[in-house]
Amino acid sequence: MEPEIRAASIFRGRVSVIPQHVAIVMDGNGRWARKRGLPRLEGHRAGAERLREIVKCCPDHGIRFLTVFAFSTENWKRGRHEINRLTELFQAYIDSELEMLQDYGVRIRFIGSRRRLSHTLVARMAMLEEATADNRSLLLTVALNYGGRREIAHIVRQVAEAVRNGEVNVDQISEDLVSRYAYAPDLPDPDLIIRTSGELRLSNFLLWQAAYAELEFVDTLWPDFTVAEFTSVVERFARRSRRFGAL
Ligand code: FPP
Repeated sequence: MEPEIRAASIFRGRVSVIPQHVAIVMDGNGRWARKRGLPRLEGHRAGAERLREIVKCCPDHGIRFLTVFAFSTENWKRGRHEINRLTELFQAYIDSELEMLQDYGVRIRFIGSRRRLSHTLVARMAMLEEATADNRSLLLTVALNYGGRREIAHIVRQVAEAVRNGEVNVDQISEDLVSRYAYAPDLPDPDLIIRTSGELRLSNFLLWQAAYAELEFVDTLWPDFTVAEFTSVVERFARRSRRFGAL
């Protein structure tokens, strides 16, 4: 979405431009655990707690869409042990978060391929999506077994299929049409993408959708990324956006 048409709203008592869609690469769980001499799973657990706090604060900030990178198509290269523990953590999170999501009016949705995920996890994901479908305060999109290039390949296949079926003419293929075949076509492009832990990469996250996003890289490891720091990153975005408007 172009900055000019982003909603102006009251943020911390001032009128400013708030990002309506924030996306986060939650990185640094493993390093957080290692620094404390703990197993990596403890880092992921602390990361899940952090996610809960950030989700809860989004509606107050006027953020309507939050997308988080939970597991990438590349993460299958991790050891079987870590993958199993992460799967258990995702399941436990789903079971424990339903009440909070309902209380805060959060709708949850998962994007990515469900093919390699366990049947139990897939069933729980579907249950959570259905149970929260009518919530309107925030749409939380969790990218799980997600890869940006894989999504683009999916889009290309869908568009090719539509051309083959005679539903679309080659001349009609525009940016808008391509976006309509994305995993979540109703989701606006992210205004702000945050990556924690000091890495300066997108790592295959939302490649098509990131075209105009502001990028913020912070050194903090994800389990240490507090609501206060999140708020200051959002405020920084508001200042950057206002300068953009002045140009
Ligand atoms: C990156 O840290 C984090 C992940 C691959 C997993 C993200 C998962 C969570 C934050 C758990 C909560 C999420 C949900 C949806 C319940 P890393 O392991 O790559 O850290 P490192 O780079 O320091 O090793």
